Amino acid sequence: MNSKNERPTVLIVDDTPDNLAFMGQLLKDEYQVRVATNGAKALQIARDGRPLDVILLDIMMPELDGYEVCRLLKDDPATRQIPVIFLTAKSDPESERRGLELGAADYITKPISPPIVLARIKTQLNLKAAADFMRNKNELLEREVAQRTGELQKSNQQLRLLAARVETVAEQERIDIARELHDELGQLLTALKLDLAWLKRRCPEGDTPVAGKIEAMDQVINATIGTVRRLITGLRPRMLDELGVVAAVEAEVQEMRNRHLECILDVPRRDTAIDKERQVSLFRIFQESMTNVMRHSGATRVEILLDLDDERALLQVSDNGCGIGSAPPNNRSLGLVGMQERAHRWGGSFEIHGTPGAGTTVRAVIPLHDPSAA
Ligand SMILES: Nc1ncnc2c1ncn2[C@@H]1O[C@H](COP(=O)(O)OP(=O)(O)OP(=O)(O)O)[C@@H](O)[C@H]1O
Ligand SMILES: [Mg+2]
Repeated sequence: MNSKNERPTVLIVDDTPDNLAFMGQLLKDEYQVRVATNGAKALQIARDGRPLDVILLDIMMPELDGYEVCRLLKDDPATRQIPVIFLTAKSDPESERRGLELGAADYITKPISPPIVLARIKTQLNLKAAADFMRNKNELLEREVAQRTGELQKSNQQLRLLAARVETVAEQERIDIARELHDELGQLLTALKLDLAWLKRRCPEGDTPVAGKIEAMDQVINATIGTVRRLITGLRPRMLDELGVVAAVEAEVQEMRNRHLECILDVPRRDTAIDKERQVSLFRIFQESMTNVMRHSGATRVEILLDLDDERALLQVSDNGCGIGSAPPNNRSLGLVGMQERAHRWGGSFEIHGTPGAGTTVRAVIPLHDPSAA
């Protein structure tokens, strides 16, 4: 549309100079008028880049007739939006139908009634103004949405990098604490045990109370050693570093069986090479799933599938418990979010489904190669 202080522009297309003069006279007070005496000229004006608000188009013209001009205007994205009003002596319904089918906005037959033509032009201008307004708003909105989406994607990416960094730092912390526990506390407990053995050897024969005390202390030390070992394994299983994720999962499964949970573990292939960081992610997802099974499901049986091929690692943990969703969601829970993040970090996927009363299945897939390295 023209800028606000300019009058709208109307292009009149007619091969009869008298008609052009008559229409020009009728419109000149309210509109800027441009004229074309044939179809080719009309197309040239419509495409010259200056704004046009409505086209009044005669049908019967030599060479390019009005129908063809209308078709070409509607085919061209640059001119498609300009409303075309046929202004013609062809008054039969078939001609009108054809004109409207070609995309014309209106069809007026000659001889014309000036006030009616003026009113119908105004209607088309109002419609076009409304359509232009909507289109502009739409474009603005689309630009805004694209910009916001870009910003969101960027901050998502930053969050993901941050989460990966936090995870790496936390994992290193666990390794350090596990080592300290092993080296410091382990040595102290061993020293205590040696001292106690020394005392035991020197305990006078027949001094039952002292011997009983020594025996009780030995049991406390053994229990403490067991607790420290469990803590170390919980923080960072040595199995994971020394023998890899499959062995670490097997050890954990054994631990669960000892706690009377029936565990079926299926590892169809064991020779896949997986880098350490992905192994840690897989193991942590497994660990968190098992913790959830123990804490929330009330399951008596768990099936674990660790399926490794050259492209991806698939971990599936299915329990026969109450089924996720049977308890109201806890917004502070982070276990599921953490598992999802660990899978997404590698461009993988994470799903959890439950059926009330029939169990829950967690499924995580981690691609084993970076997409950029393909
Ligand atoms: N195997 C499961 N069976 C039944 N419900 C489950 C299971 N796993 C998860 N849930 C439900 O999903 C919720 C969210 O799990 P999530 O691991 O995110 O949090 P959480 O275990 O409650 O706390 P945390 O943040 O310490 O892990 C749980 O509170 C529980 O209601
Ligand atoms: Mg949890």
